[in-house]
Amino acid sequence: MWEGKYDSSGKRRDVDEVVTTRFDHVETIPGRNDRKGANQLLLGDNKAVMASLPGEGSGKIDLIYADPPFDIGTDFRVRITLGHGDRRKEVPTLAYRDVWGTGAGSYAQMMYERLVIMRDLLSDEGSLYVHCDYRTTGLLRNMLDEIFGPRNHVNEIIWFYKTGGLPEKLGFGRKHDTIHYYVKSRRHAIWNPQKEKSYVKHKYGFSNVEILEDSAGHYTNVNCRDVFDIPALRGNQPERVNFPTQKPEALLERIIRASSNEESLVADFFCGSGTTGVVAEQLGRRWILADASRLAVHTTRKRLLGQRSSATDTGLDMRTVKMYEALDSQTLAGVADARVRRRRPDGGVDIELTGFAPSLEGIPERERADLEACAVQSGLDFVDTWGVDFNPSNDGAFRGQWYSVRKAGVPLVTVSDRANGHTGKTGTRALVGVVDVFGRRVTFPVEIAG
Ligand SMILES: C[S@@+](CC[C@H](N)C(=O)[O-])C[C@H]1O[C@@H](n2cnc3c(N)ncnc32)[C@H](O)[C@@H]1O
Repeated sequence: MWEGKYDSSGKRRDVDEVVTTRFDHVETIPGRNDRKGANQLLLGDNKAVMASLPGEGSGKIDLIYADPPFDIGTDFRVRITLGHGDRRKEVPTLAYRDVWGTGAGSYAQMMYERLVIMRDLLSDEGSLYVHCDYRTTGLLRNMLDEIFGPRNHVNEIIWFYKTGGLPEKLGFGRKHDTIHYYVKSRRHAIWNPQKEKSYVKHKYGFSNVEILEDSAGHYTNVNCRDVFDIPALRGNQPERVNFPTQKPEALLERIIRASSNEESLVADFFCGSGTTGVVAEQLGRRWILADASRLAVHTTRKRLLGQRSSATDTGLDMRTVKMYEALDSQTLAGVADARVRRRRPDGGVDIELTGFAPSLEGIPERERADLEACAVQSGLDFVDTWGVDFNPSNDGAFRGQWYSVRKAGVPLVTVSDRANGHTGKTGTRALVGVVDVFGRRVTFPVEIAG
């Protein structure tokens, strides 16, 4: 029961009418291996996204992982880095909100609607994993039983981790999350048993089991149990990106391997930093990701482009990614300038990003004054990623053949001179795409004079 579950006449409120939204194709990150179409990354409220999937939709998705907000009642903020050297500055910014204005009822109704739509998107072989913690596990378990039927609840998975921190004032240390695993049909669900190591004290007295050894001791390989002992991410881990609540790739790997096959379509409509997409990509699955936070979508884009490189030539060894945004969510990052820099021996040119005047619209007042000073000093410090489409098509979407991805505190590469075989030809026009540190984008054409 929750406030809003029934209408004033006592009738069960169904999913409010879902209005389909037009999602514009705004960017393509080219890749290889597109046998079964491109992956999709969408910016928007997932209720509208799920109702309006531009490519594939209802009944086609084999696995959905949902890691929604936990109804904590706070804003999640991150510190983003501007500039480098003497100009290096860290500013806090909103990553996403977990505040549900009208109390627990509004969180419940928000989740109920989305879980119903997710069930309908699943194929007959499909599975849904809903990640929650002690605050929401009871509510979501009951809700999911109602939506899928209790028989289709396969596991209550405990993700156990050993994080540090102060002891609780009262009670035992909280060191687990709960993941509810449901299938659409027990008979048809995809299931690939996974193995894990089970350590034994010594290797004697076992028959019919193979005892193996690694640096931690002797072990046997057993079927994975419903307690996942997977370390939480630490600050210095290479896979870590600047996003709160990021989940470890190893957790998603176990889920994706168990409940999907190669070429299966995997989706995460609360994608955050894009962990599900990154792992699905590594495992040869196709994927759809969505998030309502611009910073989350940008973090995912950046992670896909190769978080650790300062400049990237595309044609990455990954499937093409098509990015979509709802028309009304398109806010401009600012105004950028670029010029054609030099002729290459092959007759091509490079593009140089020469200036950027960021827009500070929508930035909270208390953070603004500081940022205004930085913006005047060096607007380019606000550029997080930029790229060039040397061959723009007429649909207005940006197809980056070359990208520069900034690492925190490292100077931005401002000339597209690492382009490998992608250079502008005279008499044509190139498209430059800039994304600022808040994830907002702007594209503009550059004429390549003869
Ligand atoms: C717990 S985080 C997900 C973290 C993610 N699993 C990772 O590994 O980075 C929840 C995400 O859900 C997003 N979100 C919340 N409500 C949403 C909605 N209605 N539509 C789309 N995304 C939403 C938030 O912006 C946030 O990025």
